Amino acid sequence: METQGLLNLAYLIAAVTFMVGMKMLGSPKTARKGNLIAAFGMGLAILATIFLHDKEVSTLVYTLIFAAIAFGTAIGWYIAVKVEMTKMPELVSFFNGMGGATAALIGLLEYQHYTDSSYKIAMIVAGLLIGSISFSGSMIAWAKLNGTMRKPLRLPSYNVINIVILLATLALAVFIIINRPDSPVYLYALFALALLYGVMFVVPIGGADMPVVISLLNSFTGLAAAFGGFLYDNMAMLTGGVLVGSAGTILTIAMTKAMNRSLSNVIFGAFGDTGGSGEGKTSGGTVKSINPSDAAILLNYANNVVIVPGYGLAVAQAQHAIHELEELLESKGVNVKYAIHPVAGRMPGHMNVLLAEANVDYDKLVDMDDINPQFKNTDVVLVVGANDVVNPAAKNDPSSPIYGMPILNVDEAKNVIVLKRSMKPGYAGIENELFYNPKTSMLFGDAKDSITKIINEVKNM
Ligand code: TAP
Repeated sequence: METQGLLNLAYLIAAVTFMVGMKMLGSPKTARKGNLIAAFGMGLAILATIFLHDKEVSTLVYTLIFAAIAFGTAIGWYIAVKVEMTKMPELVSFFNGMGGATAALIGLLEYQHYTDSSYKIAMIVAGLLIGSISFSGSMIAWAKLNGTMRKPLRLPSYNVINIVILLATLALAVFIIINRPDSPVYLYALFALALLYGVMFVVPIGGADMPVVISLLNSFTGLAAAFGGFLYDNMAMLTGGVLVGSAGTILTIAMTKAMNRSLSNVIFGAFGDTGGSGEGKTSGGTVKSINPSDAAILLNYANNVVIVPGYGLAVAQAQHAIHELEELLESKGVNVKYAIHPVAGRMPGHMNVLLAEANVDYDKLVDMDDINPQFKNTDVVLVVGANDVVNPAAKNDPSSPIYGMPILNVDEAKNVIVLKRSMKPGYAGIENELFYNPKTSMLFGDAKDSITKIINEVKNM
């Protein structure tokens, strides 16, 4: 009894640390600490579960549990330390898939122990169903993000096929909950159907919509874990699952808003196949290129400069160089800010994380809605490896696949300098009319290389 009380206390502390940690993740200043606090809570919950439960466990089982924990920790640690910033979204997708698989495995293992309770079987079936979809869907998302699966694959009438598979899966789930069959065959059939649905659900969705899908799958995994919490009456598991589920849902909604899409449009829609397809109007016209020396003159004599970071900043690893340029210009009396688009880069908050790594002052980062009215008074916009997020086709070209997506209105500034290596399109695979705007000058080359050259020129002025 006393042990049970201690166990509940440990779960309560864990649940509180999850909430405090989550709150602290809301600001870059406290995020690292918040992560550690939540990790401490998770560690406490795991150890309490192992040592304070009321079942007899052999030494062999303890050994296996700790061997598995050590193995998983070593792999997780190694991957987390080694992963490049540009590969973060696929890592998130992979880890999320593992969470879904765990929830599904709980269902497969526990079913036989609870066939006398409809409520418990309902929790098991729900966790298994959602966890399996999340697992197979996340694996497909992972393959798409790492380039193994480049093109969206669409069967004819794929929406109809998917709805039929989903309905069959749900019907089988209801059948199992009502009849609670002793044979696990039905549960394995449900597992297979849910895995198939996860694959079919994500396969047709294109690359540009992947972050939304990952975030949605993330919320699925949270929900699946929460059902596990109900099954075991485990407060820590329930709170953790609910927090992940709701955070994933909020992020999904925020991202669809940032892309001006509805969730149903992402899931059933048509944007997916734009990756590299070059749809939309072709701008044509002349492109004006500039050298680092002229770019330095423009920047040095400006009053207000806005830097727009994009995916290319991450590829070039130019975050430290851009911070150095920012400080140099500030020391010469130029007012410098960064404009942050919500989906710049390849994951939510990508630019914030990258710039924080280079110790850029967080107050210098201005969100899209706040910076857009300021472009009219900006002398020079320095676009560093960004493309889609500054493409005016989103405002001007109804035939463009990104039409309606909110963008940074850099074309309203007096001068625009774009740092990129070529005229190749960005993630959405469409041409950018900004590059042909008479106000725009292109500085071709690797962003870090170009910024370093500009820094040297500014220093000599
Ligand atoms: P993109 O539109 O992808 O453009 C990035 C640009 O960076 C490319 O045009 C590329 O041109 C340039 N680049 C690459 N390496 C470079 C280097 N070493 N030096 C200089 N330039 C380099 O990026 P964005 O404007 O950040 O837009 C993000 C896109 O990704 C949006 O379409 C968004 O919907 C999508 N997306 C976002 C997320 C999230 S949540 N952030 C996740 C997945 C997808 P060159 O090849 O010519 O150099």
